[in-house]
Amino acid sequence: MSATNTSRYTAVAIALHWAIAILILFMIWLGWNMEENETRYQLHKSIGISILILSVARVAWRVMNPPPPLPADMKPLEKTASHYVHMGLYVLIIAMPLLGWALVSTSKFQVPTVLFGTVSWPNIPFLGGLRGNEIVHAILETLHSKGAWVIIGLLVLHVAGAIKHEFSGEEGVLKRMIPGLFGRTAPPQPPARGFLVAFGGSALLFALIAAAPLIGRSSGTSPAPQPPAAEGEAQAAAPAAIEANWTVDYDASEISFAGVHDGNDFTGTFKDWTADVAFYPDDLANSAVLVTVQTGTASTPKKLYNDSLRAPEWFDVKTYPAATVRLSDFAKTDTGYTATATLELKQRSVSTPLAFTLDIDGDVATLNGEATFDRKELDLGQTSDPNAQWVKDAVKVTVTGKATRK
Ligand code: HEM
Ligand code: HEM
Repeated sequence: MSATNTSRYTAVAIALHWAIAILILFMIWLGWNMEENETRYQLHKSIGISILILSVARVAWRVMNPPPPLPADMKPLEKTASHYVHMGLYVLIIAMPLLGWALVSTSKFQVPTVLFGTVSWPNIPFLGGLRGNEIVHAILETLHSKGAWVIIGLLVLHVAGAIKHEFSGEEGVLKRMIPGLFGRTAPPQPPARGFLVAFGGSALLFALIAAAPLIGRSSGTSPAPQPPAAEGEAQAAAPAAIEANWTVDYDASEISFAGVHDGNDFTGTFKDWTADVAFYPDDLANSAVLVTVQTGTASTPKKLYNDSLRAPEWFDVKTYPAATVRLSDFAKTDTGYTATATLELKQRSVSTPLAFTLDIDGDVATLNGEATFDRKELDLGQTSDPNAQWVKDAVKVTVTGKATRK
């Protein structure tokens, strides 16, 4: 092994090479070991998109900082083989994330992608029309799955080549790519160029893609026309006006929901809702409450849940921004009251009992109520999880509220 290599890759190229190499190997392992594990799926997508962005930076960096010439003692055939293996690896570190992204963009399961639990990542917009297309999806799935094996094949050649040159008495290439270990005697290199272009450019690309859905949302696109109600579904009737005799104190009131996802309890609240309350303890027959909830304001501690809830198969907030709950059939019980809560959501209407206590102290009333809804009946999450394998059907809605008499 010669200790005097003529030149080395730049520190940036070396850092990118090893970071991407380690991430790719981890990704292949993860891809094979993530079935039925949503956390791992999200991690796979997060690291995969990170690899895409790093690879874009890497290619830009390589264009601006050509690698050192191959050692003179390499045979022409070896040089050509090494060149093609490198090109193949470059293609794959970009193509694999793109295929994965296309895969989730065309999947009938509309599970959102939230990178590292923080950044909502959109689907590829022009593939929207192919969502649920089983043939296209199957082709992408095969390419993505076989692509991993092509990487492994190229990697065997790649590593074998590096080792061969190292141990065959040739000048070798490994030291050119190993950070700091060898080549301290290397002659000074021309200063690296294009740091800002490579990293600034890929960071900008990332930011633009992540921001694209926000731009679409704020451009005031009119909501999609409401599809006609399917047979057997209730058409939401225009709610009759209610002459409220109580004013709700929204700061002291809350509508929250609780359910179970993948064995873990989750809770959330609706941040924006209004309620018209006409309640007469002595005249329950003429009492009525109408609550209007902005479904897009559902908020949980997890971004993935928030994004999922807004998606078409859940609340479909673009088409149906609001849901209403009407309380009727009030009756007194030993401990408080019951009412029928009729929830109208996505042109469906589902009724369930609401049990509540009400303490009236002078002109101030405090309410605590609870109702359980079945998400299957409400057509929530029925594409990705129709059998409640992930999210339990029962969702408990809790209302705590304060109101003053008008
Ligand atoms: C999935 C993992 C890997 C990928 C995607 C990958 C990709 C690449 C690519 C594209 C190049 C060409 C750089 C250029 O000239 O622009 C390269 C160079 C190199 N890689 Fe890897 N690599 C991986 C893993 C490894 C491993 C495990 C080794 C360890 C032996 C290794 C050793 C090298 C060496 C020594 C070079 C420099 C070759 C030369 O001087 O021409 N790589 N790698
Ligand atoms: C370099 C990046 C990537 C590598 C090396 C990689 C590798 C893999 C592997 C080995 C599998 C298992 C395939 C099988 O079961 O045979 C897999 C599955 C999967 N990957 Fe990736 N992946 C990458 C990027 C991505 C990205 C960026 C996404 C999405 C944004 C993604 C989404 C998926 C999905 C949804 C599956 C499951 C496919 C199925 O149901 O069969 N991947 N990936």
